[in-house]
Amino acid sequence: MQLVYLNGDYLPLDQARVSVLDRGFTFGDGVYEVIPVFGGSILCPDEHLRRLYNSLSAVAIRNPLKHSEWYGIFERLLDHQPTRNDCSIYIQVTRGVGEREHLYNDTLVPTVFVMCKPIQARDFTSGVSAITHEDIRWKYCHIKAITLLPGVMLKKLAAATDGSLDAILIRQGYLSEGASSNVFIVQGRTVKTPATDGRVLAGITRDLLVRLLQEVPVGCEETPITEQELRQADEIWLTSSTIGVVPVIRLDGIPVGEAKPGCIWQEAFRLYEARKLNFAIPPGRLIG
Ligand SMILES: Cc1ncc(COP(=O)(O)O)c(C=O)c1O
Repeated sequence: MQLVYLNGDYLPLDQARVSVLDRGFTFGDGVYEVIPVFGGSILCPDEHLRRLYNSLSAVAIRNPLKHSEWYGIFERLLDHQPTRNDCSIYIQVTRGVGEREHLYNDTLVPTVFVMCKPIQARDFTSGVSAITHEDIRWKYCHIKAITLLPGVMLKKLAAATDGSLDAILIRQGYLSEGASSNVFIVQGRTVKTPATDGRVLAGITRDLLVRLLQEVPVGCEETPITEQELRQADEIWLTSSTIGVVPVIRLDGIPVGEAKPGCIWQEAFRLYEARKLNFAIPPGRLIG
């Protein structure tokens, strides 16, 4: 039986109910967060919660819980996980239940939903395909909004094209990010990724990888990347909490570099996998 948290209660997933007038349902009026858990240890929980708070504040939804209360929920749900297999903690906060009117009442009580979801064990180390697409999303991509229709459409299109893992998005001639990932490129021995302005989500995996790369000789530049630079890159990587650091070996059906995972990716992958648990909190240690 999978236990989930909904508005103060812990209950089986199939008993969790929200109103059809919840603004998450009628307007997509809410934000979310996904926190990876490896072998029971929660990766970068503070960074994820800080990003959740930033998303909430950007859309003027009040943060309904204290930091320690969020941690209490995570501990309780993880305690109920049947195994210590890798999983992610999914958090969704909507503006709450109200009349279906665009203009909302400031007194609404946010709806809070949290569940654990297994991370599918997939091996991407031999490389994946990706497509490119115009960035058809809105302009506030730093907000992790539940309104994900462009991402849903782009991921479906990618999967239908050569089984691609993601769509790499271009806005006005510049790389922004993947539909559900951040993007790095390698030119020679130089690693680059776009800076985290409003065009991209400040990925926690991205930030951690940039930090780790800056501690080793290869380094990482946070800088605008043109579409042409993307297409001519020797290596392209995708990053996210659930996939880690993944090499792209075909872009729009065209080989990237030598059409195999590059040697800088191998360094970055090893570095990330070796160090990530240093940024994780082991089971039972979140509180106190
Ligand atoms: C649009 C977008 N960019 C980047 C990321 C990667 O973020 P993180 O590394 O925090 O998972 C995601 C993750 O879902 C995403 O949806």
